[in-house]
Amino acid sequence: MSAAELSHAQGLRPVHAHKAMVVSIHPQASQVGAAILRQGGNAVDAAVATGFALAVVHPAAGNIGGGGFMLLRKANGEVHFLDFREKAPKSATRDMYLDAQGNVIPNASLIGYKAIGVPGSVAGLVYAEQHWGKLPLRAVMTPAIKLAREGVRLTYQEAHSLRYEENPTTHLEEERVFLGDARRIFQRNGKFYEPGEIFRQPELARTLERIAANPKANEFYKGAMARELAAEIKRGGGLITAEDLAEYEVKERRPIRGTYRGYEIISAPPPSSGGITLVETLNILEGYNLGKMGNRSADSMHVTVEAFRRAFFDRAELLGDSDFTQIPVAQLIDKKYADAWRESLDMMRATDSKDVHRPSGFGELDRPASLHPPFTGRESNNTTHYSVVDPQGNAVAVTTTLNDSFGAAVTAGKLGFVLNDEMDDFTSKPGVPNGYGLIQGEANAIAPGKRPLSAMAPTIVLKDGKLFMVLGSPGGPRIISTVANILMGVIDYGLDIQQAVNAPRFHHQWQPDQIYVEKNGISPDTIKLLQARGHKIKTESYWSDGECIAVDPKIGELLGAPDGRNGGKAVGY
Ligand code: GLY
Repeated sequence: MSAAELSHAQGLRPVHAHKAMVVSIHPQASQVGAAILRQGGNAVDAAVATGFALAVVHPAAGNIGGGGFMLLRKANGEVHFLDFREKAPKSATRDMYLDAQGNVIPNASLIGYKAIGVPGSVAGLVYAEQHWGKLPLRAVMTPAIKLAREGVRLTYQEAHSLRYEENPTTHLEEERVFLGDARRIFQRNGKFYEPGEIFRQPELARTLERIAANPKANEFYKGAMARELAAEIKRGGGLITAEDLAEYEVKERRPIRGTYRGYEIISAPPPSSGGITLVETLNILEGYNLGKMGNRSADSMHVTVEAFRRAFFDRAELLGDSDFTQIPVAQLIDKKYADAWRESLDMMRATDSKDVHRPSGFGELDRPASLHPPFTGRESNNTTHYSVVDPQGNAVAVTTTLNDSFGAAVTAGKLGFVLNDEMDDFTSKPGVPNGYGLIQGEANAIAPGKRPLSAMAPTIVLKDGKLFMVLGSPGGPRIISTVANILMGVIDYGLDIQQAVNAPRFHHQWQPDQIYVEKNGISPDTIKLLQARGHKIKTESYWSDGECIAVDPKIGELLGAPDGRNGGKAVGY
């Protein structure tokens, strides 16, 4: 029996394994990845298998109708970052979600076929498998096909997510509204699935089989499936055509690299804001002795929040798809820029977000703000992350999303999978606050072929040049603060990786000007001290799951840290 199988109930201590580890939100997805590793697959084989399995067992966010990012660090030190983010269709326009009066049409970028971006997940997973995997595509897709055909026994979380969703404004749970085939597939036309029932998806099984059968013919993007998908989207009033699908391409990008207290950070570049905002935050925090201030003390939370405030301010105004907008990456992650930010930080007083002014003298960052006026956007938190390390020491971090839970709440007809509403990650209209109040800049306006700004931050941390942590989380903008908090938990506060994942979360995103704190976590005394410094605090009970792995630097053992918040599972051996 393996060390991981012998370890105690998951949740309080990391799951130990000698050779390999897969951590994801769903037990069966993690098991699929670990089984592929045991069959001789490498970390990419396991990640691709886990990704397709998540599309079956966790259809709220796991997907083939969405997009995502994969960060691979091979044991030999080679690093690849794969962007398979969705793209706006060719006929997308800047004002496509506004009515004749210029007002945002409610839900137009959220629900239904007009909200869909050209999906990238199938292209991304297939590209990764063909370039870096060892096994045939069919071998890594077979477990997902089997799960779809034979069915999965629904966990409490999955049955619940098929039935309910959280209203983003009231934060109350409401019964989900699915349309057409999505209602038939996921809710049996209103006869809701119960925990423990078997959930079968024969149409999805056939779709996955078709993708697996002939990867060279590129069934999803150029074959008969592409034509069926385009026809279905057209029937639903969407914009994506067979040409949009045929032209979709994944991109290998250079990841963001930074350092924090001697550790190397490798994370997501644009079109994600994840890596830049993470590294900028950490650069600011490097000037403070957080360990001495104490984990979740008022002092350490204060400076962390002030660092988030400044980094998210830059994110809001400057970040978007780097294929369309010039992004001053080097300046944003320059340590001297962080030094200058620190000069504006008052240890005893919260900065009012309205009074945040970027330090001058940093080249591109000195462009007048009128060239990139901020405007609002909303980001959803229904995404999923998984981490893999194989016996050779190759590591993969994947974050993938449909944007909202179950995306646009529509399926590709009889193809049996959900389509994303990633178009909502663009900004529909300048200056109009929405339910989430997140502000974004001109750099993220809608344009044909452009990729919407993401916050996804699959991240790898090295210590002395060796693999140390594989990190990531869902959570929209909270992805960035979650990854930062977990990383600081280990590096600054001396927590083990599981304690760092479990630690109560807090988040600030510049606007709205408030600290979000996890209910049942931060002491009321600390909250009072933060309020006395001028911080506004909002407590929330729902926080998403970081699914992470660390390497014990002394003995090289793998430490899996699944997140109990949403039923994550580590499987290792
Ligand atoms: N849709 C969530 C993200 O990309 O950040």
